[in-house]
Amino acid sequence: MAPTVPLVLDDLCVKDLSKSSDLKSIPSQFTFVNDSKGSISDSIPIIDFSMLISDNPGQRSKALLDLGKSCEEWGFFVLINHGIPETLMKAIIDASTEFFNLPEEEKRRYEAKSVSDPIKSGIGTANGANHKILLWRDFMKSYVHPHFHCPEKPENLRDIVSEYSGKCRLVLRKLLQGISENLELEPGSMDEALNLDSCFQLYAANFYPPCPQPDLAIGIPPHTDHGLLTFLIHNGVAGLQIQHNGEWFHTDSPQNSILVNTADHLEIFSNGRYKSVKHRAVVNTDATRISIVVANGPAPDVMVSPLAELVQRDGRTLYGPMKYIEYVETMLSKRFDGGGNLECLKIQDNQE
Ligand code: OGA
Ligand code: NI
Repeated sequence: MAPTVPLVLDDLCVKDLSKSSDLKSIPSQFTFVNDSKGSISDSIPIIDFSMLISDNPGQRSKALLDLGKSCEEWGFFVLINHGIPETLMKAIIDASTEFFNLPEEEKRRYEAKSVSDPIKSGIGTANGANHKILLWRDFMKSYVHPHFHCPEKPENLRDIVSEYSGKCRLVLRKLLQGISENLELEPGSMDEALNLDSCFQLYAANFYPPCPQPDLAIGIPPHTDHGLLTFLIHNGVAGLQIQHNGEWFHTDSPQNSILVNTADHLEIFSNGRYKSVKHRAVVNTDATRISIVVANGPAPDVMVSPLAELVQRDGRTLYGPMKYIEYVETMLSKRFDGGGNLECLKIQDNQE
């Protein structure tokens, strides 16, 4: 029999629960029915960022082509040679880990009271078949651009998150420039239409402790992300799976690479050419996994809809407009309930 704990783990985070020495099975509130395990694919695309910004036209056009193909076919790629220093990537993983090691009272200062709180920490819930379930994960999230928010402790977190998210913005804008070119638009058209000088960035640190029954629990259930492109790095323990042609795939990645997935607003902006990829985080028995996610979106107050030029070309629009920050906050308030905002914005009449 699984031990019972209250649905809200009042004084506990998943990290402490996983440390209880007699934990042989997961409390029933964590039970999540996974539809299938993931398998390995050796064809997950790799994009070499240094080629994408290369002065050699041949190299660049090949990298552009690869980028377009991976966004279209997978909605996912592994980015290498991105220029973000290895030391900075390690520093953000270490400082974020330290956050989770802080005393509970300190972390609880950031317990979400309202969906628009710029810093939130806690354990996640999701809607299961007919009841809420708990996720095998502790998290901390903060809005880091255009306005910067960060927990006060550990003290070095602020500077590290600020530097890392700034470097992510530079990489983001180059990738989106390439994507604009692939859409046969001016290189700066996405930058301009979505006001990327003020692009919204959400930093999230996820802590997945070892789980005695990983097949019966889930770190994050299948979902798509808000925004344009999401960047993910981890502490060397894999766990992100993406859906491709209806199957789940593990995303093993070379050290120091960034895992990039397409998100809802790239699907909307491109009028459906690039689909927002479904993904999930699975857990394991042996090792704690830490992932650092930076979700990159349009400026908060931009009303996002498919770009007029693409709508004109396609002769129809597939998505209704919505202000980006409203989309983010409705999504955060009903996260992981199965139905995303994207579904609500789809214009049914125009679909084949
Ligand atoms: C997310 C997410 C996956 C992971 O935070 O949105 O999909 O592997 N995380 O941590
Ligand atoms: Ni995600």
